[in-house]
Amino acid sequence: MSPDNRAPFVVAHRGASAAKQEHTLAAYELALQEGADGLECDVRLTRDGHLVCVHDRTVDRTSSGTGLVSEMTLEELQQLDFGGDDDAAAVLTLSELITLVLDWRSRPIKLFVETKHPVRYGGLVENKLLAELQRFGIASPPSAAHSRAVVMSFAATAVWRIRRSAPLLPTVLLGDSSVYLGGGAATTVGATAVGPSVKTLRDHPDLVDRAAAAGRATYCWTVDDADDVKLCRELGVSWIATNHPGRTKAMLAEL
Ligand code: G3P
Ligand code: CA
Repeated sequence: MSPDNRAPFVVAHRGASAAKQEHTLAAYELALQEGADGLECDVRLTRDGHLVCVHDRTVDRTSSGTGLVSEMTLEELQQLDFGGDDDAAAVLTLSELITLVLDWRSRPIKLFVETKHPVRYGGLVENKLLAELQRFGIASPPSAAHSRAVVMSFAATAVWRIRRSAPLLPTVLLGDSSVYLGGGAATTVGATAVGPSVKTLRDHPDLVDRAAAAGRATYCWTVDDADDVKLCRELGVSWIATNHPGRTKAMLAEL
């Protein structure tokens, strides 16, 4: 149990993505209405240098079109429908998502931005991301706790680049191996939190205490099962990412 006995904060993974098509404005709005404390998104660069919220390398699974995000302009992406079985929806830009987060007045929301393809583009994504956070005035928070943005990546290099350029921004080093997360990579790159999958956490519950001993929080993904929510609560995980933010908030309130 965490020392202050606080329930984990709930992060909506790609929005309330069990109920709505992932990475759409509708999915994120529903997550906020359901009480999510934070929103998670994946970002990719378009050919003309815009950051858009798309998980896969291609748009094939989540839109009406086909092709690589990195080979399409924003205008081309905007011709596609990302709404799936829901109402039609345009591709969501990072800028639109940040605007939603900062405009949500009833409580402060944190945005967890995961950078994809960090190695291939040699830091371009991180630079664009930092420029975008600076434009909104959220790249240099007064403290990690008060930051409105958290940058995450599976690539240690990406976390390292962010720490070097924006040392006050909180970061999460994601991974699916306790050896990687607990074995010094997070220390080397200066990540403020480690991000194990829920399977890794089940297999290595000591990860949370080990991270805390090194001054790091834990962000666990993707936690949709009631037993896993309970486990995260008991272990003192700080943030849990889920496709069911409303249900998860309700589960935590019962524990
Ligand atoms: O929140 C981290 C998690 O999203 C990582 O996995 O594949 O869903 O981006 P993925
Ligand atoms: Ca992600």
